[in-house]
Amino acid sequence: MDDRLISPVSQPGEVQLDQALRPQRLADLIGQDRVRENLSILIEAARQRGEALDHVLFYGPPGLGKTTLAHIIAREMGVPIRATAGPAIERAGDLAAILSNLREKEVLFIDEIHRLSRAVEEILYPAMEDFVLDLVVGKGPSARSIRLKLPRFTVVGATTRLALLTAPLRARFGATFRVDFYDQASLEAIVRRAARVLGVALDEGGAAEIARRGRGTPRVALRLLKRVRDYAQVRSDGRITREVAREALSLMEVDEMGLDELDRQVLHTIIEKFGGGPVGLETIAAAVSEEADTVMDVVEPYLLQIGFLERTPRGRVATARAYEHLGIPYEGAEQPSLF
Ligand SMILES: Nc1ncnc2c1ncn2[C@@H]1O[C@H](COP(=O)(O)OP(=O)(O)OP(=O)(O)O)[C@@H](O)[C@H]1O
Ligand SMILES: [Mg+2]
Repeated sequence: MDDRLISPVSQPGEVQLDQALRPQRLADLIGQDRVRENLSILIEAARQRGEALDHVLFYGPPGLGKTTLAHIIAREMGVPIRATAGPAIERAGDLAAILSNLREKEVLFIDEIHRLSRAVEEILYPAMEDFVLDLVVGKGPSARSIRLKLPRFTVVGATTRLALLTAPLRARFGATFRVDFYDQASLEAIVRRAARVLGVALDEGGAAEIARRGRGTPRVALRLLKRVRDYAQVRSDGRITREVAREALSLMEVDEMGLDELDRQVLHTIIEKFGGGPVGLETIAAAVSEEADTVMDVVEPYLLQIGFLERTPRGRVATARAYEHLGIPYEGAEQPSLF
């Protein structure tokens, strides 16, 4: 997923910083215990046999570490990684060029893999399954198909939308992992580790406050940490305490639950314009002037996770907890119609 979706402001110098903050080894990875344990077995087994790792697919909301995991896999396997993304591979020939340059055991990371075109997928199937590349050479009646052998390589796919992957593509992954939101303790640990890397003084209260408002998402928590650091430096003595974190975050309009302006706008729209729902995704998106994809990928997963939103066959519904959080009286769920 495009990083810009949740971090619209990226300043120079922050790119290198992000690199330094990114865990490099499986052992550095905080949280995601189930994924980490399964991956370590997969990697260890492949290494012992001296084989390429089986193809791996990660899915889950943005900012939870899918790209990070892909890089960790390559590092743990001791192989190079080549990164691309579904929308970047426009024609079948683009993928053929990438595949024919891969080395033995190399990792091919395909981000937003649900956005591959059909024609490109057709090339990918035999490559993943049989490590062959079928090429058509020549044109018209003299055209013939040749089959190239490829080295054994590993596709690591990432997507925010598992449901959009075609069944044959999904079936070609030997392991599929759901990457979930992080709990408070894990996010706190991530924030503390980042503070050490950044060389910023952060006490327990400060870490807890930032983690609590981090939307269960490392990318969000790390971004908040950086902005709070700026605030502490300019408005205080540079140390991040609970107080300083609170002040900075309320200035940034991140509320107690970590909801930002867009999250709140979506809830207000459902409640105030559509009586709490049910209301369709497209309608909500139009009302808040956002892409439906952004609402679905970035806003909804967290609101569903914290129980502020429900998906019903007739559309999205705001829950009593959402009303309570926004301080709007809840009149009870709409009575189901008998007709
Ligand atoms: N377990 C973790 N521990 C520490 N930092 C993490 C962890 N997971 C992710 N991060 C940090 O969070 C940020 C986002 O991670 P990453 O880019 O891997 O997310 P992603 O799932 O690929 O997101 P997207 O779907 O938007 O591409 C990175 O800066 C990364 O360093
Ligand atoms: Mg990513």
